[in-house]
Amino acid sequence: ETVALAFSGGLDTTVCVPLLKEEYGYDDVIGVTVDVGQPEEEFEEAYETAEALGLEHYVVDATEEFAEVCMDAVAANADYEGYPLGTALARPVIANAILDVAEEHDCTGLAHGCTGKGNDQLRFEAVWRATDMEVIAPVREMGLTREWEIEYADEKDLPVEAGDGGTWSIDTNLWSRSIEGGQLEDPGYVPPADIYEWTSEPSDETELVEIEFDAGVPVAVDGESMAPVELIEHLNELAGAYGVGRSDLMEDRILGLKVRENYEHPAATTLLNAHEALEGLVLTKDERDFKQTVDEEWSQQAYEGLLDSPLMDSLDAFLMQSNEKVTGTVTIKFEGGQARPVARESEYAVYSEQAASFNTETVMGIEQADATGVAKYHGFQARLARDAEKKAKPE
Ligand code: ARG
Ligand code: SIN
Repeated sequence: ETVALAFSGGLDTTVCVPLLKEEYGYDDVIGVTVDVGQPEEEFEEAYETAEALGLEHYVVDATEEFAEVCMDAVAANADYEGYPLGTALARPVIANAILDVAEEHDCTGLAHGCTGKGNDQLRFEAVWRATDMEVIAPVREMGLTREWEIEYADEKDLPVEAGDGGTWSIDTNLWSRSIEGGQLEDPGYVPPADIYEWTSEPSDETELVEIEFDAGVPVAVDGESMAPVELIEHLNELAGAYGVGRSDLMEDRILGLKVRENYEHPAATTLLNAHEALEGLVLTKDERDFKQTVDEEWSQQAYEGLLDSPLMDSLDAFLMQSNEKVTGTVTIKFEGGQARPVARESEYAVYSEQAASFNTETVMGIEQADATGVAKYHGFQARLARDAEKKAKPE
């Protein structure tokens, strides 16, 4: 019997390898690392640890597929309590990539190293429990603590580095970098500057960048066409240099735990701000109002790792339709750690200069004086109600 393990080479997934044999009775373990845009060092850690463990190890490139999910998140202005997602969006992609490898190798089990306190266990398992394979979560099921893991690794002579990657638990992909754990768990603790890797301290310098959208999808930066992966990487660098896209927030996890989370996401912040600005130009007020409800629901489902649900299909259909007109360009100004939309243009602009200007007389047969009747009626019901109150209760 073979089990496929979501493998990063960190402490949790390293101790899982012998445990899956000793405690769960598997003959073989294969480790799968899925590339969703992590930095090169993470793959090196995974390769080296796998080799030292004698673990059969596969790396699957899912960056393009993941970037498509990020593009869907742009269409939905995706945001959960101030977190533009990232980890949440990547987990179903990772879970599916591991499932493919597991099927190719006739595995009968799927394992992850997530704790029983977080969201990631739920996101992996929402995908995996649709199969007949056994789903195993050693850290959660055996109630493992970091101290126990370190001691066990020492006893078994497992290849873990002292401190195992440092003070924080970090999760990185194309869309966001999450930093949590250690002292950061205390909401009263001010994060030191060195938790940030993608963003610099904001300075006095500013820059304008022009982003072009085609049907809601960002397709070019400053006139240069780019595929999604390249476009996101480019903006992470560009906006990160201006300190754009840091968030420090209290997050309500799916299980109800409230936790303190830090993130950096320069490209996400830039693209989300630009997309929303373009929507403001091309969508009607009714579309914008209703879309907020759809966006919120999409973000909630995405946070929970439920990208593949019938509800998501319906929400996606709405997003596809409403984004058809989100074509045009937005100029963003990086300034003081912000990515502020400062100009927008589209051939679908609902805006009409002629209609909005004080200097024109008639537009589509309407002139200023036509508003008189509307102005007379405006607030009419409230006046009727006040009048009735006065009559019912004199003085
Ligand atoms: N709380 C975030 C989420 O649910 C990030 C979790 C990231 N995991 C980590 N080990 N840093 O999406
Ligand atoms: C974990 O608990 O394994 C990481 C954090 C999370 O899943 O939210």
